[in-house]
Amino acid sequence: MSTPLAPLIPDLRAQFPALARRENGQPAVFLDGPAGTQVPQSVIDAMSHYLSHCSANHGGQFPTGRESDALLDEVHRGLADFVGADDPEEIAFGQNMTSLTFAFSRALARTWKPGDEIVVTLLDHDANVTPWVLAARDAGIKVQFVRFRSEDCTLDLDDIRAKINGRSKLVAVGCASNATGGINPVRQIADWAHEAGALVFADAVHFAPHGLVDVKALGVDFLACSAYKFFGPHIGVLWGNRKLMESMEAYKVRPANDSLPSKWMTGTQSHESMSGALAAVDYLAGIGRHLAGNAALPRRNALTAAYEAIVPYERSLVSRLLAGLAEVPEIKVFGITDPSRFGERVATVSFTHQRFTSAQLAERLGSRGIFTWHGNYYALNLSEQLGHEPHGMLRVGLVHYNTAEEVERLLAELRQLESQ
Ligand SMILES: Cc1ncc(COP(=O)(O)O)c(C=O)c1O
Repeated sequence: MSTPLAPLIPDLRAQFPALARRENGQPAVFLDGPAGTQVPQSVIDAMSHYLSHCSANHGGQFPTGRESDALLDEVHRGLADFVGADDPEEIAFGQNMTSLTFAFSRALARTWKPGDEIVVTLLDHDANVTPWVLAARDAGIKVQFVRFRSEDCTLDLDDIRAKINGRSKLVAVGCASNATGGINPVRQIADWAHEAGALVFADAVHFAPHGLVDVKALGVDFLACSAYKFFGPHIGVLWGNRKLMESMEAYKVRPANDSLPSKWMTGTQSHESMSGALAAVDYLAGIGRHLAGNAALPRRNALTAAYEAIVPYERSLVSRLLAGLAEVPEIKVFGITDPSRFGERVATVSFTHQRFTSAQLAERLGSRGIFTWHGNYYALNLSEQLGHEPHGMLRVGLVHYNTAEEVERLLAELRQLESQ
């Protein structure tokens, strides 16, 4: 099936230097996007430009200081556009999503009292589980763990509804599973949480390269993502509702500014990575502008246009992948496989093989130039509940720079295993 993005893919791929890599005489196939995507040259250039031309700390009263501050202000605007927020000061940066969540969870936990509860899910990446569990332990409050449905690895909505109650202070939920690709109905969950008086922290790390993040449509209070999962460098991003972010007490040093966003950004940030994160957002916006034929399209509209094209393109790839995997008898896929429900999943697929562990599969594919992931990818509760520890599953992550030919190469390798 051809989609509006398909004709652009060769040009887009050409922007990613890493994708030109060859292994054993064949093009390398990067199916490791969920662990970190490759970056376009514009991201590399932006980081290099920052370090070459305007590297300075905040507030320097000299040209590079001013240029750096102006650029970093634009980074906040760019990332606000990326998550659909109006206020650039609602965006904070940090080392990665995990570190931001640990720090933020401690600050939020200061408001919890005995008798309170929080809700986390067994489907989430551990970075949206353990920081909350430890904060709850320190505050002496109860944690409710929400089950998922083993048949399709989607959240058990009856269970989450039952576990959100008048004592709930926080619901921590992922936008999409980094293991099985299912998209959670975050808006519905946020509405239930708010009706009960709880706040909502969404983990959009896995979702962000696949779909438009929209904090208003999701109705959440806080949302975290990581630029290295959406074609940028290694840096974490935290968005939070201004009123809440202002009213909460952050763990910070005394001389650091008490206003937004500084109070949530401890120490000196990786300014070069922030510049790269902006370039990643602009790379995506560039896709939207190109498709719309309008170089002046505002960034948020351009991002919307980009994802409108990325979603069906990725769906065409994952449809092919899942159809091909269904023909390999020794493979069992975990997650949504019914094509009529592909709107509820992103293009991340995990599976087991009857005779090979995920590490054996990843190693074999890796030796043939196909880069996948194995183990539990920190979706530890999910892997345990499915009975897959310690070997986990093989994960194939498709993003928009992947192609149908790459999917076919993977399937051919997996089919070959059947005869061995
Ligand atoms: C869904 C999800 N949440 C959180 C994380 C942690 O992100 P970071 O590496 O930025 O701490 C990951 C990383 O793989 C992830 O996939």
